[in-house]
Amino acid sequence: MNQNKSVELLTARLRLRPLHEDDLVHIQRYGVIEEFYRYLPIDRQTADDIEVFLKARLADQEDGKQDRLTLAIEPFDVGHIIGTVRLEVQDRKHKQGDIGYAMNLEYHGKGYMSEAVNRVLETAFCEFGLHRVWATVDTENERSCKLLERVGMTREGHLRHDMFIRGEWRDSFLYSILAR
Ligand SMILES: CC(C)(COP(=O)(O)OP(=O)(O)OC[C@H]1O[C@@H](n2cnc3c(N)ncnc32)[C@H](O)[C@@H]1OP(=O)(O)O)[C@@H](O)C(=O)NCCC(=O)NCCS
Repeated sequence: MNQNKSVELLTARLRLRPLHEDDLVHIQRYGVIEEFYRYLPIDRQTADDIEVFLKARLADQEDGKQDRLTLAIEPFDVGHIIGTVRLEVQDRKHKQGDIGYAMNLEYHGKGYMSEAVNRVLETAFCEFGLHRVWATVDTENERSCKLLERVGMTREGHLRHDMFIRGEWRDSFLYSILAR
């Protein structure tokens, strides 16, 4: 499977679909809120930064870029993007990949991201043929740690000062899950 304009994954409540230009206005609305990007390894976000992010992902889709899938999360009963989930093959030979995700704060606490991540992990193992998928998370990002544990990931280690985020060295936990 590769990143293209036709990839669509379904769950009970969600459509995980390619990004569209129309998503920009929604991502800009939630993406500039500090609490949204607090633990993400990116600069303070402006509407322009988000436009650059979306254009890059749309270009990946146009190219049919291999080994990287970034999908919009759209609950059926919401009808627009509420977040994104990414799966990336990092080492084809050793069948290793990683995931990343972020969601509009207004939709926290509903289990949407766990549902999306579970579906993407299934794709990672069954379609991408990966053996191990990892994620790193800021050690203070409790919601994200809980999510990773909820989807069956195991904490493997504590990475000291592996990120320099907005002027500050940060620590991460490394999590992974093996093919089931
Ligand atoms: C990390 C993040 C996705 C977690 O969001 P979340 O809503 O807590 O995660 P989930 O989708 O798994 O939802 C789980 C919560 O929904 C609740 N829930 C409600 N209905 C549910 C249902 N039908 N199914 C499962 N859980 C449900 C769970 O009890 C849980 O709540 P709790 O943590 O208070 O116990 C979110 O905080 C986020 O996007 N943060 C900003 C970006 C970020 O930090 N990304 C991660 C970088 S590593």
